Amino acid sequence: MRKKIIAANWKMNMTVAETVSYLESFRVHVEPVNGVEIVIAPPFTAIAKLSELLGGSQKIRLGAQNMYFEKNGAFTGEVSASMLRELFVKYVILGHSERRQIFGETDALVNKKVVTALASGLRPILCVGETLEERDAGREKEVLETQLRGSLAGVTAAQMNDVVVAYEPVWAIGTGRNATPEQAQDAHKHVREVLAELTDAGTAAKVRIQYGGSVKPANAASLLGQPDIDGALVGGASLEALGFSEIVKAAVA
Ligand code: 13P
Repeated sequence: MRKKIIAANWKMNMTVAETVSYLESFRVHVEPVNGVEIVIAPPFTAIAKLSELLGGSQKIRLGAQNMYFEKNGAFTGEVSASMLRELFVKYVILGHSERRQIFGETDALVNKKVVTALASGLRPILCVGETLEERDAGREKEVLETQLRGSLAGVTAAQMNDVVVAYEPVWAIGTGRNATPEQAQDAHKHVREVLAELTDAGTAAKVRIQYGGSVKPANAASLLGQPDIDGALVGGASLEALGFSEIVKAAVA
């Protein structure tokens, strides 16, 4: 009942020219694919071009990698929800561990962004995940719960229908070391339990939870085959059109 959602997080990669040639080939590869939602989150500089090329495509949705919670004003370097909406952006990745670790984003800040995104008609892809140190100390579930409670404060059950959660263990990001399907399933189940506490079981059962961290064509099917894994948030392997299309296809296999 939960439609799988496979998202590309290009991070700080891809020029406008590279985006154009990527999309040309990616579209051919995913042409026969149905029943899965595809999201591409390019850097801000490529959003306008990708928006124009996609032309409101239902199959490939546009995402952004971040936004600020204020409406407008003196916030040098930031981009607002309405600026993204103007370009037909549908999803926005919030609270990515790189934003948390490199740029010091806290759950409180992520929460303001989530609330603003939802109020603005954007669907947040809220990222949560523990570090290796936290996992080694057996604290991963507690960390996930703290991040979810903090980032989703004030979000109603009705709004949760528009939220996608991405479980991204920090130790699996860009390391080539993905969580095993069992480790990921265990974490996803816990995420859903926390979501049920925050809202209700029926709402939590409908929320899509993506796994992120070294997803590749070779491991996608086994991860996506787990009962609580409803998609993938893909970094490195999404930069190559053929490889990313194979991950998309693994979601319908
Ligand atoms: P990699 O797929 O490169 O490990 O990155 C995962 C990620 O951070 C997606 O948001």
